[in-house]
Amino acid sequence: MSDIGKKRAFFEKARKSGYAIGAFNFSEISQLKGIVEASSRLGLPFMAETSQAESSYLGAQTAVALKKAAELEIKKPIILNLDHGRSFEILKSAIDAGYDMVHFDGSKLPLSENIKIAKKVVNYARKNGVLVEGEVGYLRGASKIHTEDVIICQKDMTCPEEAREFVENTGVDFLAIAIGNLHGISAKKPKLDIKRLAEINKAVRKSAFLVLHGGSGIPPAQIKKAIENGIVKINVNTELRIAWRNGLRNSLIKNRDEVAPPVIMPSVIEEVRKAAEAKLKLFSGKN
Ligand code: G3H
Ligand code: ZN
Repeated sequence: MSDIGKKRAFFEKARKSGYAIGAFNFSEISQLKGIVEASSRLGLPFMAETSQAESSYLGAQTAVALKKAAELEIKKPIILNLDHGRSFEILKSAIDAGYDMVHFDGSKLPLSENIKIAKKVVNYARKNGVLVEGEVGYLRGASKIHTEDVIICQKDMTCPEEAREFVENTGVDFLAIAIGNLHGISAKKPKLDIKRLAEINKAVRKSAFLVLHGGSGIPPAQIKKAIENGIVKINVNTELRIAWRNGLRNSLIKNRDEVAPPVIMPSVIEEVRKAAEAKLKLFSGKN
């Protein structure tokens, strides 16, 4: 899939129909297999992502080759996003490797600098038919189980006016926002600021789709409210990582002396599939 219009239509359809696209991270072929299997079984759309660290572990070319192989198997296009790229150079090499979308995470930068680099990314991406996600607001945490509470401050949250300024000046297709969400699973349940989300949505929805990062560990009722108020793409990593790890541990315990991946891995893929299915059902309102 290379045409910007066709790619945007995939998300436009979700917004109009009131569901969100699950954007699932992978860094391992077994994770991708589980995710693809979940979508195929349910007949629900999804997209794939690799973070900067995941793509440097896997190799950007390998990530693209794996997604192309999956497209051939399911006979459907899959959008692959480079998630949380922190520099123009990283995103340029992802675009050159064949990613369909890139996420510039300039959220640690002053707004003017964030806008400046995002604009440069958009210019390069457009020439290559690639979608761009930007980010305004600071998202705490990492995709893991946190042993301590992650404290989110008011100043971390996305300001609707800054969101508007960013989207108008950069031309990004997506905007990742901070509304009480965090990366990973913390002991205390996150509480999304839906009023703020509605304000941001009003400010940018004409041009950009809103993205909720940190999709793991958010109570289903809050996910539903977020979709009703403008979220179109939801990123999930930690819950899939947990399913993968638990599946692998259980399979190694069960197959104590086994050394063959084709024997060890199918039940790992199954665990990822189940976790991805639960998310796809929730995001599509079919749970
Ligand atoms: O960009 C990736 C996501 O925001 C993943 O967040 O690990 O909390 O699911 P998560
Ligand atoms: Zn994220």
